[in-house]
Amino acid sequence: MKIGILTGGGDCPGLNPAIRAVVKKSLKLGYEVIGIRDGWKGLVDLNYKNLDSNAVSGILHLGGTILGTSRTNPFAKEGGPQKVIENLNKLGIEALIAIGGDDTLGVANKLYGMGINTIGIPKTIDNDLSATDFTFGFDSAVNVVMNALDNLHSTAESHHRVLVVEVMGRHAGWIATYGGLSGGADYILIPEKPFTIDEVCDSIKRRQSTGRTFSLIVVAEGAVLAEAERAVTKDSKIDAFGHVALGGIGKFLCEEIEKRTGSETRDVVLGHLQRGGNPTAFDRILATRYGIAAVNLIQKKDFGKMVALRGNQIIAVSLEEGVTRSKTVDMELYEIAETFFG
Ligand code: F6P
Repeated sequence: MKIGILTGGGDCPGLNPAIRAVVKKSLKLGYEVIGIRDGWKGLVDLNYKNLDSNAVSGILHLGGTILGTSRTNPFAKEGGPQKVIENLNKLGIEALIAIGGDDTLGVANKLYGMGINTIGIPKTIDNDLSATDFTFGFDSAVNVVMNALDNLHSTAESHHRVLVVEVMGRHAGWIATYGGLSGGADYILIPEKPFTIDEVCDSIKRRQSTGRTFSLIVVAEGAVLAEAERAVTKDSKIDAFGHVALGGIGKFLCEEIEKRTGSETRDVVLGHLQRGGNPTAFDRILATRYGIAAVNLIQKKDFGKMVALRGNQIIAVSLEEGVTRSKTVDMELYEIAETFFG
């Protein structure tokens, strides 16, 4: 059996542990593994490398992906899917593991519909896939936010400032909610709950009236002002999957807060720091379990599936189910975070 493996979309910590698990398990079963470079782009351009045991040794703790990644969508290009299929045949790949978020796995699902034996592994720092309790990458990103908030607390307190911390999360505020909750944020703004600047300023003033002269506000990049009804974007460019680049809500909020409350305010954009660095133990283990489960599905010839975490069990759902609905923040959890708002 010849297995292909690729990583697509935004990188995240945990990709290398997943690749390592797929290769090690496959080799144990006597399978061969071909690593496709740079996501779907490598299957359009025929760019790959053979993955043997040496290729995946020493990578468990490394962030990023040894295969490279891209946001290439073969279905956005004339003849793209046909090229992918032609190259899979050229390489003799009988089963393909795609590691990605909804975009990458959406392509895997479409290819499955065209007769390709695909399996999906869910990853994304955004944790926004509804069929799984957790995607790997999320826990590592949350830890970056938590550590940043720990560091920002002392400087905010020393200067009696408001600090606005912008984190990733396009349509779902999971990173903001988990990061803010674990790092003691005084207000958290998420895409699921449109907000007004007044409510944020009132909360800051309430804290000040009880003697707390600093506040940490966590805002997801996709948070929406109730009066604007859409998120703030960096520019009007759209990627191959139709996404605009978000960003700028933190700076905007910072200026408004300073204007309206008179408190000295600064903004910090955590940006791609949240996607870099070593995976946490949780992400290493989850990614490893997903990688092993994906190869088990191939062994059973159970294709068109995505591995997922439910409770503490790894299960398989259809790729279709894996990509159709996105998962937004659990409002019960957000209410817990609200208990700590000013
Ligand atoms: O999808 C993961 C993600 O990190 C989002 O949270 C963020 O909006 C986006 O990718 C950033 O993409 P890029 O790396 O292309 O700037």
